Amino acid sequence: MTDTKKLIQLLYSISDTIVENAQFLTDLDAAIGDSDHGINLARGFKKVETELPALEDKTIDAVLKKTGMVLVSTVGGASGPLYGTAFMKAGAVVKGKSEIDINDFLAIMDAAIGGVQLRGKAVEGEKTMLDAMIPANNAMKKAFDDGKDVHSVLQAGVEAADKGVEYTKSIIATKGRASYLGERSIGHQDPGATSFTILLKTIANAY
Ligand SMILES: Nc1ncnc2c1ncn2[C@@H]1O[C@H](COP(=O)(O)OP(=O)(O)OP(=O)(O)O)[C@@H](O)[C@H]1O
Ligand SMILES: [Mg+2]
Repeated sequence: MTDTKKLIQLLYSISDTIVENAQFLTDLDAAIGDSDHGINLARGFKKVETELPALEDKTIDAVLKKTGMVLVSTVGGASGPLYGTAFMKAGAVVKGKSEIDINDFLAIMDAAIGGVQLRGKAVEGEKTMLDAMIPANNAMKKAFDDGKDVHSVLQAGVEAADKGVEYTKSIIATKGRASYLGERSIGHQDPGATSFTILLKTIANAY
């Protein structure tokens, strides 16, 4: 499915899409947060890009770990440590590998979600990135168990993530800055759930 070279290409693509969507994500954060989500993530992934050339001979886990460390140190806010921890935990489950398959990817998703929950102490239904990540992961596992190919597994994840983003419009934020708004957060989609969905779509488009 993916070797280091392909992972590095994917990270360049993810960086491009996050940069393209930076204003959109920041506008979403303006409605229920502090207008920085897209700008911060774009800054982080731009910095990740500068580290990628030196990682070409490294294993998958080294690339994921470095990405996580750069995100923690450059994105800031809530989502920097959350995304950063997700990438670092993802690296830890594929230690020493220079190629991964869809099974490894599902393990990566489990670890990433575990990392976000370890850091942010949120569960599903609190209007966070987890409301896209968890249903996407469940849908991908189901598609994989049903014998679907990589392309279909990833598409199932994207569809579930999109639905998760829609769902965040209907609920009250109880974590992060958006929770200060209480009921007024209803009607707005969560920026973090949206950025995760954009990230997963970029991955899915490559298979
Ligand atoms: N405890 C948490 N667990 C999971 N995701 C969270 C948590 N807190 C915030 N988020 C996610 O982070 C996104 C906001 O990221 P941003 O980069 O704007 O950080 P921020 O401005 O510090 O946000 P906040 O003040 O909401 O924590 C939210 O849309 C949500 O998806
Ligand atoms: Mg913010």
